[in-house]
Amino acid sequence: MTVQSHPVVDLAGASKTYGDVTALRSADLLIRPGELLAVVGPSGSGKSTMLNIMGTLDRPSSGRVRIAGHDIDALSDRELSALRAGTIGFVFQQFHLSSGVPALDSVADGLLYSGRPRSERRRVAERALRRVGLGHRMYHQPHQLSGGEKQRVAIARAVAGDPPLLLADEPTGALDSRSGAVVMELLHELHESGTTVVVITHDRDIAASLPREVRLKDGKIEHDSSLGAASTALVPEEALR
Ligand SMILES: Nc1ncnc2c1ncn2[C@@H]1O[C@H](COP(=O)(O)OP(=O)(O)OP(=O)(O)O)[C@@H](O)[C@H]1O
Ligand SMILES: [Mg+2]
Repeated sequence: MTVQSHPVVDLAGASKTYGDVTALRSADLLIRPGELLAVVGPSGSGKSTMLNIMGTLDRPSSGRVRIAGHDIDALSDRELSALRAGTIGFVFQQFHLSSGVPALDSVADGLLYSGRPRSERRRVAERALRRVGLGHRMYHQPHQLSGGEKQRVAIARAVAGDPPLLLADEPTGALDSRSGAVVMELLHELHESGTTVVVITHDRDIAASLPREVRLKDGKIEHDSSLGAASTALVPEEALR
């Protein structure tokens, strides 16, 4: 079996508690290579918690998490960082770009852990910025970019190393509808080129426009459109494989 044929994300009974708050309750979620899906739900329903667990930024309190075939329980923090660096790109609502840093450096710095020499990092960063339509903004700092452009720099940084999985937490949340549409178009293009893309969104139209929708409520997956009308809780885990 090649790594490609593994699910990209495989959560089984994954839970996360913070003190007496259960942020994620026994989530079962299987994401296959090349999928594009929306994660929706009210504020506080556990969307970011689940994304952080899929992204290995956080370990679950209980349950199993496999990313690209790797059981994350079996990995040290160091091995987990290496898996994350090579496998997962992140995009957040607030862009997370350092002030004063030109776009080209922001993107190139995202490749620091790839082991590539500096000149190559800059070459790859240039290509990524062109890919998101910012070939003419390489040397602009965040305060010289529009919101939509900042988010495109963040996407360029997330995908410069060609990770198979892109996780986006409300990537259009801080944008006007036109810039949001450009960002969504970009995510569709990445999906078409083979990247698996998970998008958290509050926007019903965006969610409805994606091939799969996973809905959270009170930390529980209450609906997964890939499973039809049945509640996930009623589907035995093995039946999903
Ligand atoms: N580090 C933490 N410590 C304590 N409680 C937390 C922590 N992180 C999240 N929570 C709680 O877990 C629940 C789920 O939070 P989460 O951030 O996953 O929600 P969300 O669905 O992403 O919400 P939003 O749409 O507002 O971003 C919330 O009730 C939140 O207060
Ligand atoms: Mg959130």
